[in-house]
Amino acid sequence: MKILEHTSLLPYNTFGIDVPAQVLVEYASVDELRQVLTRYAGQPLLPIGQGSNLLFTRPYDGVVLLSRMCRAKALKETETEVYIQAESGLKLDDLIAQLVDMQLTGLENLSYIPGTVGASAVQNVGAYGVEAKDVIVEVEALEIATLRTRVFSNKECRFAYRDSIFKNELKGQYIITSVTYRLQKNGPLSLGYGGLKQVQATTAAQVREAVIAIRRDKLPEVGQLGSAGSFFKNPVIPTDHYQQLAATYPDMPHYEVEGGVKIPAAWLIEQTGLKGHQLGGAQIYPKQPLVIVNANHATSQDIIALAQLVVDSVQTKFGIRISPEVNYI
Ligand code: EPU
Repeated sequence: MKILEHTSLLPYNTFGIDVPAQVLVEYASVDELRQVLTRYAGQPLLPIGQGSNLLFTRPYDGVVLLSRMCRAKALKETETEVYIQAESGLKLDDLIAQLVDMQLTGLENLSYIPGTVGASAVQNVGAYGVEAKDVIVEVEALEIATLRTRVFSNKECRFAYRDSIFKNELKGQYIITSVTYRLQKNGPLSLGYGGLKQVQATTAAQVREAVIAIRRDKLPEVGQLGSAGSFFKNPVIPTDHYQQLAATYPDMPHYEVEGGVKIPAAWLIEQTGLKGHQLGGAQIYPKQPLVIVNANHATSQDIIALAQLVVDSVQTKFGIRISPEVNYI
């Protein structure tokens, strides 16, 4: 276990925001996590994974938790499938690289997404037509109040678009320790989405390569340019609202989904003319306006102000209220 007091969070968030934490603890086993929770009982806790989906807005007056539990093992194997249990602190992309080497399919579309295995379940990470929930079998978590482990079935996790029970009813009550995924042995590939449609791939490794190339082309490289990936979620609007807008904007991209019509927030933002717009050190990423980048020593106040400008501009032009995917801490 490693404990740091009054330490900068700069190395621990992909946005590159420099605020201090009162305490930061790295733990390497469930037992160590129990010890940490006992020692800091009653204090605010913040598991941050790779820090790739959050924005620190002020010094963190509590205990930042970093899982350094990074193993993965096969739990069970059938003729067509392998169940892999991965620990929370393993980087999702490192796991996917291993799976692809083992010719196991299911997660390759999520290649190159920054974030940990634990976060894949909290956030139901998704890209290119696949969401983590499609392959998650169960999630093991430690209850903070009782220090007991509990196993959540896929259904109990109540996964939805970038959402799960861990962000809602059970927010702040459990810390995920491992996730079990069901992978197929050389199973079918998902190539139906956008940029992947043109790709000629027959193996998970080829899909992974294609996804990495697309992401590198469109999204800022972690470690080179600060960001938290998509800053906003794609909004779902009622069908009648979509029809009204379509009369004015016949080319508006849209996808029919449960509960209405999903509109790419990137398109909405582009129409407001804010692509590339800079406010202080924060900028709307010119190659993908869904992303806000730390272009030049941005403060969290710059980023918040720019995000608010985007929300207000989209609201004024389209009557659609987009909301951040990024967590403000
Ligand atoms: N678009 C524009 N202008 C642009 C870029 C995109 O109008 O400059 C429009 C286009 O119509 C395009 C559409 O937006 O067809 C969708 O763009 P893209 O396929 O890049 O996906 P996205 O909706 O912008 C979502 C996820 C990404 C994920 C990609 C690929 C959300 C909030 N974002 O982005 O996830 O990688 O699809 O599946 O759902 C993340 O969550 O951090 C993330 C990067």
